[in-house]
Amino acid sequence: MIDVALFGAGRIGTIHAGNLAKEAGARLKYVVDPNAKAAQALADRHRAQVATVEQVFADRDVGVVLICSFTDTHADLILAAADAGKQIFCEKPVDLDLARARECAEAVKKAGVSCLIGFQRRYDPTFSALKSRIQKGEIGTPEMLVVTSRDPGPPPIPYIRSSGGIFKDMLIHDFDIFRWILDDEADTVHANASCLVDPAIAEAGDADCTAVTIRTKRGRLCQINTTRRAAYGYDQRFEVLGSEGMLQAGNHAPTEVVASTATAVSRDLPEHFFLERYRAAYANELAHFFAVLAGRDKLRTTIDDGVKALELADAATISWKEGRIVKL
Ligand SMILES: NC(=O)c1ccc[n+]([C@@H]2O[C@H](COP(=O)([O-])OP(=O)(O)OC[C@H]3O[C@@H](n4cnc5c(N)ncnc54)[C@H](O)[C@@H]3O)[C@@H](O)[C@H]2O)c1
Repeated sequence: MIDVALFGAGRIGTIHAGNLAKEAGARLKYVVDPNAKAAQALADRHRAQVATVEQVFADRDVGVVLICSFTDTHADLILAAADAGKQIFCEKPVDLDLARARECAEAVKKAGVSCLIGFQRRYDPTFSALKSRIQKGEIGTPEMLVVTSRDPGPPPIPYIRSSGGIFKDMLIHDFDIFRWILDDEADTVHANASCLVDPAIAEAGDADCTAVTIRTKRGRLCQINTTRRAAYGYDQRFEVLGSEGMLQAGNHAPTEVVASTATAVSRDLPEHFFLERYRAAYANELAHFFAVLAGRDKLRTTIDDGVKALELADAATISWKEGRIVKL
């Protein structure tokens, strides 16, 4: 039985705690969150105890930490966990600062612990089916990728201000998808961005719509389009064109009922947002992490993947701000 400590009893911490309860070989021992009410509620739900950061790292029985707290706490917690020899599951991004993220990657390697970074899309049943069909050669050699990634609505302005910007906060997932699907690295990045949804986002120094073009080291091309607002809900699709055909991954809907009447053919809107759309992905991701710890699988989203996605986010931010193509 592995004892687990969870940092952050917010939206994503609650999801991971729920999935952890399904792991036969693990139990949630501690919940840490400066929001005492949230910490106590989650601890009560899982028969865990509320604890401080110091208590967690002083307890030798804690084998695993789940880092689901604010982004600006990730690096300190990764460094402390690596130093204490704990296995680490950390939400994206590793940090907003590339040098600091690289420092975390070094510490993880030196400590010899596992560190999964939460790029849950790789564990989504639809996306992973598409990836394995590419690997089986169904569309020949992949040459072009189009990623559409649209949120139903923007987050609050205080969140935007501390998010590190749309490229590090939102497109970090799309940059990871790009590397994973094309199995290639970026050679150049050209990013453009605009504020079309809410002027307050521009006032906060950020954009809310982006168009990014990446050329890979092997000359493949990827286009990513994102917005913080899609009137019809969370839109997560991608399309891979290969030498022998195309694969497309579409949205999921709550039901597959289609209504055909004299005026229209209609169906459900896509699942509302990430907590619904990636429900299965989050469960698969955590199960994968524990399978790795049990020696049954090899880690699929490492801290190096977290660093690489951040390199792309940095390059895209520079490209947008300086109006030029950035070479990596
Ligand atoms: N992979 C994904 O799909 C995904 C989705 C959402 C959020 N995230 C990431 O997860 C993290 C949390 O996001 P969220 O949406 O759950 O936020 P949230 O605001 O709902 O919850 C974060 C919680 O962390 C707590 N916290 C802050 N500092 C802490 C500390 N030092 N120790 C312990 N707890 C602390 C806060 O009090 C809050 O309750 C962010 O880094 C975010 O980027 C990832």
